[in-house]
Amino acid sequence: MQEKINELLKNVEKELATVTKEADILNIKSKYVGKKSEFNNLLSSLKDMSNEDKKIYGPLLNAKKKELEQLFSDKLSNLNNTANLDFDETLPVKITTGSLHPVTIVAKEVTDVLKRMGFTVLSGVEMEDDYHNFEALNIPKDHPARDMQDTYYLDNGLLLRTQTSGDQVHAMEKYQAPLKICSPGRVFRNEDIDASHENTFFQIEGMVIDENVKIENMFSVMKSVLEEVFKQDVKIRVRPGFFPFTEPSFEMDMSCLICGGKGCPTCKNSGWIELIPGGMVHPNVLKMSGIDPQKYTGFAFGIGLTRLAMMKYKISDIRYLNSGDIRFLENFEIE
Ligand code: DAH
Repeated sequence: MQEKINELLKNVEKELATVTKEADILNIKSKYVGKKSEFNNLLSSLKDMSNEDKKIYGPLLNAKKKELEQLFSDKLSNLNNTANLDFDETLPVKITTGSLHPVTIVAKEVTDVLKRMGFTVLSGVEMEDDYHNFEALNIPKDHPARDMQDTYYLDNGLLLRTQTSGDQVHAMEKYQAPLKICSPGRVFRNEDIDASHENTFFQIEGMVIDENVKIENMFSVMKSVLEEVFKQDVKIRVRPGFFPFTEPSFEMDMSCLICGGKGCPTCKNSGWIELIPGGMVHPNVLKMSGIDPQKYTGFAFGIGLTRLAMMKYKISDIRYLNSGDIRFLENFEIE
């Protein structure tokens, strides 16, 4: 009896070693431990045995049955672990390629055109100190301009930068003048979120410092940037603005492409989108970073990359951009 059982176990192991499909394993299982199996016959023969034999073979057969069942369940669970490798090669395959986020696309377009004009591309830090985000930009503590940018202050004494303008300061400190840099990045403001407001969005800062830099130079840079991104003439207007770190300050607006200038929620019904603020760098800002304002002048600007992407792709609700929704993202391709 003992020999018979051992042989049976060996055969099971042998057969199992050659199969990889669930159906084959189940067939072997039914052959060896199913109702009509040899093993089951052995179990049924227990009832005809003498009491002494029953005492010996009963526990033995039950132990071996458990062993066999374990063999099958191990084999089946191994199969589940590797199931994803067992695929039908004849099934049609849908190949999907990734796409770039619309903000990534416009950031690349803007940096590409700026690089061609000789700008160096830098990248700043998202966790910034008060000095670089505000003080060194001529926004001292208690300055009302701080209210324009609701700030997330961190427990470690730093803050989440509200603008990429702090990158100007880092660049001036590091490279002094002359200087021609841009710096794209993510900024944060404690805003209530709606179709045109996000608490996380993207800007790109630009700064040029040299002898004899004039505001016309800035307008021509901005124009080139817009032509590169929109590949068409866009209607713009320039109006005076206010920023503590530039004097004079300007706002370049673009006719809203979502509504064609008629007015919609995205442009707050004005027909215009504020796109590129900038101006001549305030002498205090140059001085604070160790640059002589008697010798050098400069301009700086900050483009809203998120808004630019919205205009380019006619995205009416800013919330799509941070949604991570693949169906939305699949629509964008680099041109
Ligand atoms: N940092 C400003 C903002 O987020 C935008 C800005 C204005 C940047 C004027 C500049 C500038 O460099 O000169 O609202």
